[in-house]
Amino acid sequence: MKACGSLEGALAGLHVVIDAGPTYEDIDPVRFLGNRSSGKMGFAVADAAAQAGADVTLIAGPVHLPTPPGIERRVDVRSALQMRDAVMRAVEGADIFIAAAAVADWRVADYSARKIKKGPTGTPVLELVENPDILAEVAARDPRPFVVGFAAETDHVAEHAREKLVRKKLDLLAANRVDETVGIGADDNALDLIWPGGGESLPHTSKAELAKALVARIAAHYHARRHA
Ligand code: PMT
Repeated sequence: MKACGSLEGALAGLHVVIDAGPTYEDIDPVRFLGNRSSGKMGFAVADAAAQAGADVTLIAGPVHLPTPPGIERRVDVRSALQMRDAVMRAVEGADIFIAAAAVADWRVADYSARKIKKGPTGTPVLELVENPDILAEVAARDPRPFVVGFAAETDHVAEHAREKLVRKKLDLLAANRVDETVGIGADDNALDLIWPGGGESLPHTSKAELAKALVARIAAHYHARRHA
């Protein structure tokens, strides 16, 4: 098993699929529901995985980031449904899936092809429907890749993260605290890693450094599983 912290060749020969950034759920041609994700964390993970020798497919929501060097395949999407289609195509035969994207939990039930106008009928009420859970769908596949999720929480981080690890049947989960200033959109972050039977904290640092540490841990867990 590769030592934690060592990236060189840690994922050589493996196909790693990573999703990153937000999804935008269109309401009409000019408005959408979105979130504050910049894509920085997922892109840093993709960069670190490529540095570790992986063949990386990066599925990106609407972000303003250049593709990291060494990544041959980038698929740009906008909505959760588009991200799901792109991920499902990419994970076929993949070794590892890492879900760093902030996928919208809901989309509007009825997209309006025309701009919704203000008018005498008053404020519009948007009906929302739930988006598919991409991460849980990948984890339910048989055979499935090694599945790594993220959890973005404002409170009770450890409890919510452990619940997501179990409910979504993940191999590893990276939990981060998020608010207007921390984790989401920022250049740095801190992660609590949990897996069935254990956990480890990766302290606050730049997303680039954190991603290298995370990828080293993912590689170690992946190889330990394969050689168990
Ligand atoms: O992009 P940045 O600005 O750098 O910010 C990084 C980040 C905070 C977005 C990132 O570190 C992070 O936490 N990503 C996951 C955000 C999230 O949506 O967390 P969640 O707890 O709502 O979802 C749990 C997991 O399920 C995530 O892996 C998510 O990608 C996945 N999910 C959620 C909903 C859904 N419909 N499909 C999914 O795949």
